[in-house]
Amino acid sequence: MEEGRLANKVAVITGGGNGIGRATALLFAKQGASIVVADIQEDKAEETSQMITDAGGQSIPIRVDVTSGADNELMANLAVDSFGGLDCLVTAAGISHANYVSGDIEPDIKNVVANRADYLERPGWEFVEGDPDHFDKVLAVNLKGTLLGMQACVARMLESETKGSIVTIASIAAKHPDAGPLAYTTSKAGVWMMTKKAARMLGPVGIRVNSIGPGFINTHMTAIIDFMDEVETAAFNAMIPLGRRGEPAEIASAALFLCSDESSYFTGEILHPDGGFFTE
Ligand SMILES: NC(=O)c1ccc[n+]([C@@H]2O[C@H](COP(=O)([O-])OP(=O)(O)OC[C@H]3O[C@@H](n4cnc5c(N)ncnc54)[C@H](O)[C@@H]3O)[C@@H](O)[C@H]2O)c1
Repeated sequence: MEEGRLANKVAVITGGGNGIGRATALLFAKQGASIVVADIQEDKAEETSQMITDAGGQSIPIRVDVTSGADNELMANLAVDSFGGLDCLVTAAGISHANYVSGDIEPDIKNVVANRADYLERPGWEFVEGDPDHFDKVLAVNLKGTLLGMQACVARMLESETKGSIVTIASIAAKHPDAGPLAYTTSKAGVWMMTKKAARMLGPVGIRVNSIGPGFINTHMTAIIDFMDEVETAAFNAMIPLGRRGEPAEIASAALFLCSDESSYFTGEILHPDGGFFTE
């Protein structure tokens, strides 16, 4: 018998190759869960999985593009075929803009710095000139990707009558328009509403669906913040009552609570590990 807060559970984690997804995979494994690590960056998924098995845990990696229904099906089936069930899903795969590649800062610099300088000279035009194809890409990964992952995993839970727990990763950007670009904030607001809707639709079968809306967390996605000068960085940190960005492990522990039986009466809820950003 495994020990830990997720003993004998099986968890699927999308975006498990980097950042918040990786920290969640490592913590869940430490707490006794067997983990399917899914990511579009296959080498990174393999790396996370290796870290887990090196530490004595159970894990299997899979390359998944969350925008593909077929990939999500393979991912959910892999959990059942490899570990005999599927209890938890954490949907951490995400992009901040259409050209985002986790770990590559160049598209971020181009997207954020170059665009911002240009549009400061031409107020209002950033909204008008937003590329609809870029919008579609962000919505496809962040919103539709979350839906497809949930559908594939919930199907397996229903078949085995498992009262599973699903954790979506939204953002403070789900509620605050300044916390990201237009498509990103829109996608995260969608993730949050989808979480609430799914919680209501799945409550009768005992499947819980909650969300985490992190503040600014130290991952590849926020690496661009380190390009600010000292004054800007100080102003940025001053927005956050705790005066610092969060660490991926601090989001993973919120996910652990939501996937464990300790949160058995939570569904349709969002937790904001955000250093106090949302205090009023
Ligand atoms: N870092 C933050 O400050 C922050 C704040 C709020 C929410 N989030 C959200 O947390 C989640 C994790 O982001 P992170 O900060 O760890 O960034 P990250 O770049 O470290 O991780 C994102 C992961 O998603 C994977 N991914 C991207 N597109 C994919 C696709 N189509 N299919 C499968 N995998 C894909 C990437 O390869 C990467 O491993 C994202 O949904 C992000 O929006 C992050």
